[in-house]
Amino acid sequence: MRQLFPVTDMTASTASDQGWSPASDREWSLDALADAYAYPEGGGTWLRANMVSSLDGAGQHDGRSQPLSSETDMRIFGILRGLADVVVVGAETVRLEGYRPARAREAFADRRAAAGQGPAPVIAVVSASLDLDFSLPLFTEPLVPTVVLTGSGAPADRIRAAREAGAEVLFAGDGARVMPARAVAVLAERGLRRQLTEGGPRLLGQFVGADVLDELCLTISPTMTAGDAQRIAGGPTVAVPTRFRVASVLEQDGFLFTRYRRI
Ligand SMILES: NC(=O)c1ccc[n+]([C@@H]2O[C@H](COP(=O)([O-])OP(=O)(O)OC[C@H]3O[C@@H](n4cnc5c(N)ncnc54)[C@H](OP(=O)(O)O)[C@@H]3O)[C@@H](O)[C@H]2O)c1
Repeated sequence: MRQLFPVTDMTASTASDQGWSPASDREWSLDALADAYAYPEGGGTWLRANMVSSLDGAGQHDGRSQPLSSETDMRIFGILRGLADVVVVGAETVRLEGYRPARAREAFADRRAAAGQGPAPVIAVVSASLDLDFSLPLFTEPLVPTVVLTGSGAPADRIRAAREAGAEVLFAGDGARVMPARAVAVLAERGLRRQLTEGGPRLLGQFVGADVLDELCLTISPTMTAGDAQRIAGGPTVAVPTRFRVASVLEQDGFLFTRYRRI
């Protein structure tokens, strides 16, 4: 996989002598990728998103993100999960993509133990209706209990059903809905500060709108879909576009694995 930015393995003078900007091409071990994508040190709360988009901005095709993805994209997806305390995901993505519990990966065991993390990230499903199938393995068979993140006004019978299935219910809103900034704070108070959201677009748009998204890991898929698919973030337009700076760009098979941090 080629590292396009930052360029690290050739001095500036060598590069300019050759009149081109070099990109280092090498195999990336799981550890090297995990180091590259490590959460910032310092112990603060950090919300990162991982999304894939087609060249023409589609965030899904036929209702799923898989047609836009690649083997390396799924590898990075797994690395980001392996580093996270919690994966925050909208209920519609859970329903459409058939979310399963996160698994414990041997390759991450030492790293996670050293970071004081459990064997696998907690999956936190954001929902107002709690119209979720609580008989699914996501709720009945996780390694660590799945969290349902909702508002205190959510339907009481569904809250009960979630708890009976083994889920932990956390409240981050006064009505049925979750307030995005409060969700980040509630998860952090629960000890889940290395946060990863996998969308979907309606949820991500709210994190952007609340200005709590610290980092975007965006895979640019070398595909075009046309049509009217959702973009990676939806909902109301923000008053002023949020600015990000590029932190790294990797390339494999025409896919760009970009990482941007909020300025
Ligand atoms: N390109 C990518 O990387 C990517 C990533 C993920 C998903 N996707 C695609 O995106 C599509 C699904 O995304 P989506 O945007 O339609 O839905 P979504 O964001 O995954 O989920 C929306 C649902 O989440 C719950 N929700 C969202 N905000 C909430 C809030 N503030 N309070 C309480 N509940 C809240 C609601 O659930 P309830 O209805 O239960 O109340 C809402 O219906 C799928 O096609 C999927 O394949 C793409």
